[in-house]
Amino acid sequence: MKKILDLISEEMKNAFEAAGYDRELGKVSISNRPDLCEYQCNGAMAGAKQYKKAPIMIANEVAAKLTDSKVFSKVEAVAPGFLNCDVTAEFVGDYMKAMKEAPKFGVEEPEKPLEIVIDYGGPNVAKPLHVGHLRSAVIGESVKRIARFVGHHVTGDIHMGDWGQPMGLIMNELKIRKPDLVYFDESYTGEYPTEPPFTISELEEIYPFASKRSKEDAEYKENAMSCTYKLQSGVRGYRALWNHIIAVSVADLKRNYKNLNVEFDLWNGESAVHDLIPGMVDYMKKGGYAYVSDGALVVDVKEETDTKEVPPCMILKSDGAALYNTTDLATIMMREEQFHPDKLIYVVDKRQELYFEQVFRCARKTKLVGENTEMKFLGFGTMNGKDGKPFKTREGGVMRLENLIKEINEEMFRKITDNREVDEEEARNTARIVALSALKYGDLSNQASKDYIFDIDRFTSFEGDTGPYILYTIVRIKSILNKYKENGGNIEAAKLAAPTSDSEKQLMMELAKFNAGIEAAFTETAPHKICAYIYDLANAFNHFYHETKIMTEEDKEKQEAWIALLVLVRDVLETSIDLLGFEAPERM
Ligand code: ARG
Repeated sequence: MKKILDLISEEMKNAFEAAGYDRELGKVSISNRPDLCEYQCNGAMAGAKQYKKAPIMIANEVAAKLTDSKVFSKVEAVAPGFLNCDVTAEFVGDYMKAMKEAPKFGVEEPEKPLEIVIDYGGPNVAKPLHVGHLRSAVIGESVKRIARFVGHHVTGDIHMGDWGQPMGLIMNELKIRKPDLVYFDESYTGEYPTEPPFTISELEEIYPFASKRSKEDAEYKENAMSCTYKLQSGVRGYRALWNHIIAVSVADLKRNYKNLNVEFDLWNGESAVHDLIPGMVDYMKKGGYAYVSDGALVVDVKEETDTKEVPPCMILKSDGAALYNTTDLATIMMREEQFHPDKLIYVVDKRQELYFEQVFRCARKTKLVGENTEMKFLGFGTMNGKDGKPFKTREGGVMRLENLIKEINEEMFRKITDNREVDEEEARNTARIVALSALKYGDLSNQASKDYIFDIDRFTSFEGDTGPYILYTIVRIKSILNKYKENGGNIEAAKLAAPTSDSEKQLMMELAKFNAGIEAAFTETAPHKICAYIYDLANAFNHFYHETKIMTEEDKEKQEAWIALLVLVRDVLETSIDLLGFEAPERM
């Protein structure tokens, strides 16, 4: 379905052409003086030079061609040569009808769906998720849903940190604490137990303990590195123990991500590409891309146009060990083989930007990816506390994600139950749903690359540019529709009509921006554009609602048209919040 601005521009272009001018001058945009008109065209100004004519003369001639227009109710040529326009009620009403009928409310299918892989989440096993993991999950999930909605083939991969030094640290510490575990008996040839020899809480305690000790104790560190080596070189018992670490962690991660309404198609980790590394290294050497520098194997990635130093991409350390780079490059190779992706999107802290620049250049130079594969780094900023510094607990420690969610749930519960008699269980459930909208909207409404301040009071407010405000608007619509139904009305049969008031027309014009907004959110990888769209839409709805006595309207046809409009607003809002990764309750 065509975008409303394109339809309007089409009409204007025809008029330019009919008046003898270049039709491309007829591009229309939303008015930047809404007090004067709804849309504007500055083509007469642009054409003045080309046609050696005063802009106002061109504007007058074009306006004269539009006196009987079915699209424009008003086209005014004003000095020095602007065209100020309003559209007809019928035009907007018809657009609403088409939008309701069209699949996906008018978002068109891509000519050829792209194959897209999104790398997001990026947790490290055996470590609790903390606030630093929130943004990748929330933004990545939304980017995935938007791309899928538009019609592309999308795979979301969590890319867990599950292979490097932390694994050796945990195993070494387990060996000290439980030396009798059969996994450490290298002469053992039997089956290993299916029950893990630890719980998630033990694991979470062990890792920071071991990490700290390794920094103070060289021998301890040495032993841990030897464990990592044994794991990576495939010693049976170490692999079996590692499998337990993964299983216990993944179960916990799944629970946590589920609470965030975040889902991955692939639960691959860095370990998934371990066996591909020797082949990749070989290929890079043979191709003449990689060379030894100070004992390490590197690929140069600097370019002439660089204004800052871009160091070589290190493929293997001097001791032959793989690095973070190595697994990322091998993962690109694997994804290329599995999906032939048109696009790879990485949703990672923006402080890793230079690192990804190196990885992308290296992948491009060594032809690990197809020539036309786009590699996009979607770097996000930091979530700060009210003091403007990275968000911490009250005690100054790193905040666990679970606790952050608990805190916002509690605050939401308090707000919902404040001064009201409510069923405790229902209120808890509603609080959870609304709190998630507060958390996600608070994050997504900012451009990803920007830092933002986590402000629990603002995020949970029912007023302003917040998730709860959007949900409140949806719930308000649902309650009107329910009342209409209770009074015997038939919602499904209600038909849309041309707007009969200003606020109704404004609401329709906001709704009509859906397909253009979603498309922009996809091409620019920008979920915040959807937030901006629904915030404007919710405002336009609430304005309409305050101006219109829907339930007491005597004219049944008019009332029915409003009901149909409400259904469309509800559906578009609910579709939009689903793209952001949250939902609305029935009541609140
Ligand atoms: N686990 C990494 C970290 O905690 C993030 C992974 C990001 N994704 C990637 N493909 N490198 O920093």
